[in-house]
Amino acid sequence: MHQSDNRPVLLSGIQPSGNLLIGHYVGAMRNWVRLQHEYDSLFMLVDLHAITVRQDPEALRARCKDFVALYIACGIDPDQSDIFIQSHLPEHSELAWVLNCYTYMGELNRMTQFKDKSQRHSANINVGLFDYPVLMAADILLYGTDLVPVGHDQKQHLELTRDLAERFNNLYGEVFKVPEPFIPEHGGRIMSLQDPTAKMSKSDDNESNVIGLLDPPNRVRKKIRRAVTDSDMEIRFDPEEKPGVSNLISLMSAVTDRSVAEVEADYQGEGYGTLKKDLGEAMVAFLEPIQARFEEIRGDDAEMTRILKKGADRARERAQPVMRRVRDAVGLVAPGS
Ligand code: TRP
Repeated sequence: MHQSDNRPVLLSGIQPSGNLLIGHYVGAMRNWVRLQHEYDSLFMLVDLHAITVRQDPEALRARCKDFVALYIACGIDPDQSDIFIQSHLPEHSELAWVLNCYTYMGELNRMTQFKDKSQRHSANINVGLFDYPVLMAADILLYGTDLVPVGHDQKQHLELTRDLAERFNNLYGEVFKVPEPFIPEHGGRIMSLQDPTAKMSKSDDNESNVIGLLDPPNRVRKKIRRAVTDSDMEIRFDPEEKPGVSNLISLMSAVTDRSVAEVEADYQGEGYGTLKKDLGEAMVAFLEPIQARFEEIRGDDAEMTRILKKGADRARERAQPVMRRVRDAVGLVAPGS
C-alpha cells in the first residue's frame, strides 16, 4: 500500500516527443526522484499534448513506453509514485473542455510557448496547440495538486492554471486546489552543447546540441569533446560571461553529485580538454546503469503493463471525485439521478 494521502500532492509530466535528455534528468527527473518520498507523487506522460504536433503513430507509442521505462530507470519508484499515461484517463480531456469555457482567447494568445511553436510549426497552427495550456491546467487541477515541478518555460502556464482555478472557485466555491510552481534554481538548467545560451531541448534538430539518456558511450564522449567553450582558459562558473564552460561544470556537478563550487575547485588550473575528457567519462559512467535498467524494464511487457495500470487506477481514484464536483458546479446532470 501507498503511505499516501496526508502528504501533499506533487504532479509533473513530460511530453513523449523527441528523446529524453540529460537536461530532463538534471532539470526535472532528478528533483522528482528526490521529492517522491515527501509527496504523494504522480508522474505523467502527456501524449495528448504530444499530438499537437504531427507524430508518427508507431513511433509515438514506442516512445511513450520508452519514457515510462526511463522514468523508472532514473529512479522513480513505481510502487511509491504513480506513473501513468495521460490519455488513459479521459477525465483530462473532459476537464479541459470545461475549463475551455472559462478561459479567454486573449489569455491563450499571450502564451509565449504558443507564439514560439506557431513559428516553428507554421504549416500546422492547430486549435490543440492554442489550447495546450488549458489541457495542462486540467492535468494539474484534476488531482488536487499542491506542487508542480516545472522548468522556467512553463511558468506562464502555471500562472494560467492558478488563474483558472481561482476564477472557477470564485464562481462555485472550493472546487480546485490552487497549485504552487516549483522551479529549480541555478545549475538545474542544462544548456545546448553548441549554443549554450539556449536550453538543451528535445525539439532541437541538431543532434550535437543534446545528450540523450540512451546515447551510446562513444557518441556521448564525442559530443562533449566538441561542446562549445570560450577563448580564455579559466574553468569558472559564470553563466553570463562563460555559458559553455559553466554548462560543462553544471553537467559535471550533476552526474558526479558534487556542488558547482567543488567542481570549480577540483579543476583549478586545469585546461578545458581535461574537463571535457573527465566529463565524458563521468557522463558515460552515470548513464551506464540507467541504460542497463532501462533495457531490463522496457523488455518486460508484463511489468510495464502492471505499472501503467496501477498508475492509471490510482490516478482515476483521485480524479473522479474532482470531476464530480466540477460537473455538479457547472450544472451537468449526474447520470442516473
Ligand atoms: N507542458 C509541459 C512541458 O512541456 C508538460 C506538461 C503537461 C506538464 N502537463 C503538465 C508539466 C502538468 C507539469 C504538469 O514541459
